[in-house]
Amino acid sequence: MSRKMFKLLPVVLLDIQLHLMTALFTVEVLQPRYSVEHGSNVILRCRFPVDSQLNFKMLSILWKRISSKQEEKEIYKLHKGQEDLTLQDPDYRGRATLLHEELPMGFSALSITSVKITDAGSFLCVINYGEADYKYITLEVKASYKRINIQKMKDPEEEGLILICQSEGYPLAEVSWHDGRKPNVSMVANTTFELTDEGLFNVTSVLQVKQSISENYTCVFWNKKLNEKTSEYVSAFQLDYMGESTTEYQKKLLISFIPISLVVLSFLAVFVFKVLRRKSSTNLCIQQGNCRNVSYRSRVKEVDVSLNITSSPLI
Ligand SMILES: *[C@@H]1O[C@H](CO)[C@@H](O)[C@H](O)[C@H]1NC(C)=O
Ligand SMILES: *[C@@H]1O[C@H](CO)[C@@H](O)[C@H](O)[C@H]1NC(C)=O
Ligand SMILES: *[C@@H]1O[C@H](CO)[C@@H](O)[C@H](O)[C@H]1NC(C)=O
Ligand SMILES: *[C@@H]1O[C@H](CO)[C@@H](O)[C@H](O)[C@H]1NC(C)=O
Repeated sequence: MSRKMFKLLPVVLLDIQLHLMTALFTVEVLQPRYSVEHGSNVILRCRFPVDSQLNFKMLSILWKRISSKQEEKEIYKLHKGQEDLTLQDPDYRGRATLLHEELPMGFSALSITSVKITDAGSFLCVINYGEADYKYITLEVKASYKRINIQKMKDPEEEGLILICQSEGYPLAEVSWHDGRKPNVSMVANTTFELTDEGLFNVTSVLQVKQSISENYTCVFWNKKLNEKTSEYVSAFQLDYMGESTTEYQKKLLISFIPISLVVLSFLAVFVFKVLRRKSSTNLCIQQGNCRNVSYRSRVKEVDVSLNITSSPLI
């Protein structure tokens, strides 16, 4: 057939293509790339052609994982309808299984539970059903810095405070610290990390602050790859008395009240003393009929008092 004929007869071309497709045994992927959260479950699927009834004894399936370092791990094998886990990598024991109920529909569905960071990579789906074919599926694993632990303590050397933010995630996050003031200035902190057994980054950021700056402090974990920011803050009041028990705090309050109480008491004492002295001198001048030494206010009072006295019918 010439090229011209194809152009003229598109329907014929379509027929031929379809015929070729069914003649070749082809494994297809439904989704070439999966992106899942660490700790969650995932089902990777590829599809193969099944006629009316699946002949189970003819079916062989192999799932393998190929890491970025080209290391291969066998995850699951079905050999002529028989499950064969002798070469299954210990890392997938009890975590990976094939969903047999999906086979009659032509799906090779690999279920992996509690997905780890180390599961990320290329998954090879091989199917032999009379003929053989394979496809790759990429698995990405991400871990948000969801739970941030914030710790506060007194700086033993200086009069300041030490704030520690710690969280786990993947990939490595950048940590920044901010106080509540404007403009928004980030502070210099010491951020370190270590890898956990699960392949996560355990990030710890230590910030030293002077007690005089009483603001809210916020640590922000920026997971660049996921374009995700999570943060935790600690308020100024909590900072001032942190690391102390309630009784210690109460003691502190009591101690700070003593000088205030002393000042108030002494003022009170002076006032009471003056009032008493004034009273006694007023009484004295009333008795003696001589009130010239008494102050103006007292004299006014004295006049009132003497008027009262003189107008009293008793005297
Ligand atoms: C500190 O944080 C609390 C709670 O978010 C908020 O109510 C308060 O206004 C903040 N204070 C400052 C100075 O930003
Ligand atoms: C301060 O800036 C950081 C990063 O630039 C940002 O994540 C944070 O939300 C800002 N905080 C405020 C209170 O504007
Ligand atoms: C940061 O912290 C680590 C571990 O706590 C410590 O070894 C290192 O000296 C610190 N760096 C600075 C600049 O303080
Ligand atoms: C993360 O690091 C902190 C401080 O170094 C430690 O206390 C914690 O146990 C670590 N967490 C994990 C899961 O390794």
